[in-house]
Amino acid sequence: METQREKKDNVVLIGFMGSGKSSVGIRLSYRLRRVVEDTDRLIENREGLTVSEIFAGKGETYFREKETELLKELLQTRSGCILSVGGGTPVRPENRALLKQLGTVVYLRVKPQTVYERLKDDTTRPLLQGEDPMGAICRLMGERREAYETAADIILDVDDMPMEVILETILDALREAVPDVT
Ligand code: S3P
Repeated sequence: METQREKKDNVVLIGFMGSGKSSVGIRLSYRLRRVVEDTDRLIENREGLTVSEIFAGKGETYFREKETELLKELLQTRSGCILSVGGGTPVRPENRALLKQLGTVVYLRVKPQTVYERLKDDTTRPLLQGEDPMGAICRLMGERREAYETAADIILDVDDMPMEVILETILDALREAVPDVT
């Protein structure tokens, strides 16, 4: 198949677990009147299993294969959407290339402490269920920093930003990056 080089007109939200991709995605979809898709939810629906069940029963590598397959499929089938992707998606170089082709990539950047506060009671993120969640957050974030930054077209530090400010800042940045976005 011919390689697709042009950027499509989706808005792609990336960022660490707990950075707010899903909530921002839903609100952005109302604001821009665009459909929102969340890759974790799509994978869960297709597999008939939660992300935790997939990690436990089939392994992380299987889940990562599903993420890459899904991005390839979305590239063929979606335009004009808001796409929120799992926190680990930009780690694979192949996925970063797919994300770039899918649309304008917005990185919601947060500090480890923010993630910890938001997810300390969460049981749905298999990678943070060990003895030392803060240690895992810091390690993963350190390993992924460069991947997130190279995948992004727009980077926003969202730790203390109210939702309304996040939305307005994204919309302003999108208008600059993609003038016909609204
Ligand atoms: C993961 C993030 C999760 C989910 C899975 C793995 C990661 O998505 O894909 O638990 O590797 O950071 P969210 O970022 O939506 O929590």
